[in-house]
Amino acid sequence: MRFRGVLAILSAALVAACAGPAAPPAPLTPPAAPAEQQPLPGHPGKDVIWVPTPPSLVERMLDMAAVTKDDYVIDLGSGDGRVVIAAAKRGARAVGVEYTPELVAMARRNAADAGVAELATFVQGDMFEADISRATVLALFLLPANLERLKPQFRTLKPGTRIVNNGYRIPAWDEAQVGTAGDCGAWCTAYLYYVPADVAGAWRLGKDELTLRQDFQALTGRLHAGSGDRNVEGWVHGERIHLRAGLDQYDGRVQGARMSGEASGSVSGFWSAEREKASR
Ligand SMILES: C[S@@+](CC[C@H](N)C(=O)[O-])C[C@H]1O[C@@H](n2cnc3c(N)ncnc32)[C@H](O)[C@@H]1O
Repeated sequence: MRFRGVLAILSAALVAACAGPAAPPAPLTPPAAPAEQQPLPGHPGKDVIWVPTPPSLVERMLDMAAVTKDDYVIDLGSGDGRVVIAAAKRGARAVGVEYTPELVAMARRNAADAGVAELATFVQGDMFEADISRATVLALFLLPANLERLKPQFRTLKPGTRIVNNGYRIPAWDEAQVGTAGDCGAWCTAYLYYVPADVAGAWRLGKDELTLRQDFQALTGRLHAGSGDRNVEGWVHGERIHLRAGLDQYDGRVQGARMSGEASGSVSGFWSAEREKASR
C-alpha cells in the first residue's frame, strides 16, 4: 500500500511540525522537481506543511458543518484548494488563504477545472493576518499550535459559526461532534465546534442580578437574589444557553444584549435577562 506508506510519512512530518517553526524539515526526500515545479504533498509551509485532507473526510467535514449555498466558508492554509472547491460545489462562497504561491496557483487551476472558479477563490497570504469576520464556517486542517494562536480570532466570530478541523482538537475547547470518514487511509477524524455567544458579565434577570464568567462554552457565576445568593453553572453553544442555579434550570437563546427562554424548578415559565455590563 504505497499510498498508506506516503500518508504515514506525512503524518510523522505533520506532527514533527508541531514542535515549532525551528523544527527540522520533515523526513521526506524531496522528489526530483518536475518541469512545472508543482508542489507535492509534504511541501514545507510557513507554519505547517502541506498534507491534503482525504476526499472522503473533506465531504464528511462539510457534512458536519452542514454547509449549504448560504454559507461563507474559509479554509486557512488551503493547500491545493480541495476543501474550498468542495464547499463551492455545494453552492457556498468559499475562500482559501494560502501562504505558498505555487499552491495558490494550483488551487486556482483546480477550481477552474472543477467549474467553480466564481465561488471558490484563493488569496495568497498569512492565515494569522487574514480577515475571517465574514465566515459562517471555518474548515481547517491545522496543528494545535496554529489553532491556539487563532483562538482570539475564533472568539470574534458570530455566535453559531461552525469550526471544523481535521486531525486535531482546538486546545481546551469541547467539541460538539467528532466525525470520521470511511475509505480514507490517514487523517480521517475531524472535530466540530460552534462559536459560543459572549455572555460574560452582569445581567438583570427580573429583580435578580446574574453575573457570569465564561471559558469558551463553560459558564460559572452567581445569582444575587432577594432570597440569597446562589452559584450558577451552565454552558452556551452558539446562541443556546443552559444555566443551573440550585434546582432551578434556565434554557434559552442569547440575542446580543438579551437572553430569554423557559425556566423550570421554583421559577417555571418564561424568563428573560438583559445585559448590564459585558466583562470582555
Ligand atoms: C495540513 S495542510 C492543509 C491543506 C488543506 N486545508 C487541506 O485540508 O487539504 C496546511 C496548509 O497550510 C499552509 N500554511 C502553512 N502556514 C501558513 C500560513 N501562515 N498562512 C497560510 N497558509 C499556511 C501550508 O502551505 C499548507 O498548504
